[in-house]
Amino acid sequence: MAVGVFDSGIGGLTVLDALQKRLPDVAFVYFGDNAHSPYGVRTHDDIFNLTTAAVERLWAEGCDLVILACNTASAAALKRMQETWVPPNKRVLGVFVPLIEALTERQWGDNSPPREVAVKHVALFATPATVASRAFQRELAYRAIGVDVEAQPCAGVVDAIEQGDEILAEALVRSHVESLKRRMPHPEAAVLGCTHYPLMAKAFQDALGPQVKVYSQANLVAESLADYLKRRPEFVGSGIESKFLTTGDATYVSSKSTQFLRRRISFEAA
Ligand code: DGL
Repeated sequence: MAVGVFDSGIGGLTVLDALQKRLPDVAFVYFGDNAHSPYGVRTHDDIFNLTTAAVERLWAEGCDLVILACNTASAAALKRMQETWVPPNKRVLGVFVPLIEALTERQWGDNSPPREVAVKHVALFATPATVASRAFQRELAYRAIGVDVEAQPCAGVVDAIEQGDEILAEALVRSHVESLKRRMPHPEAAVLGCTHYPLMAKAFQDALGPQVKVYSQANLVAESLADYLKRRPEFVGSGIESKFLTTGDATYVSSKSTQFLRRRISFEAA
């Protein structure tokens, strides 16, 4: 048994890296659905079907708890999965809530009514499917009032990252930030609402300027999982071996991932 970590591709490795640093004694099985990436341009049904197939594969690895380290799957499929599909002895958790709790200065489980928070103008950068789902605004509205969110669908960025084309990814980031700033000239906070984007965090920060606080999810998700496992230790599992599975070409995905995380990562066929 181990904890499962799912993403459409290699972006979720930013979350996995933080999880492994925060919880060094926990074994993680990572599943990248590289053969079907990017998810951000797919329909919600398609994302639901691909995500549930991947989660079933992680359950078969003994991972009773799976983290969707993918905003697109968290936004487009998680609610439906939790309401209609996940059996009582399994857990599937997403990456949105820890981020929104940080933004709204809330502790886990604080279900008090929405209230005014310090930040008023938030820029959200995410995939087209995540933006279309409005899941971020929905989760935020449960917790905060008076926050203006301007969302920018960042077409092309995930593809460029998956293909290892950093120059194209940076140029796309600059143009998406410019286009958001035309609609919201002075955001106070920016949310990198896609787990691929921390790989481009510097490009986002440079284009936004130093006065904008950029939130990315990896450390927030790691803190939140550590807290969850403290309350529900039965989901830690007793596995000691971490493993990387991909639906794509294992050699290619391993080499791209090694380049991104700057440590050796070896994927095997899912
Ligand atoms: N990294 C994922 C996310 O957080 C998915 C991107 C995609 O496949 O389009 O949204």
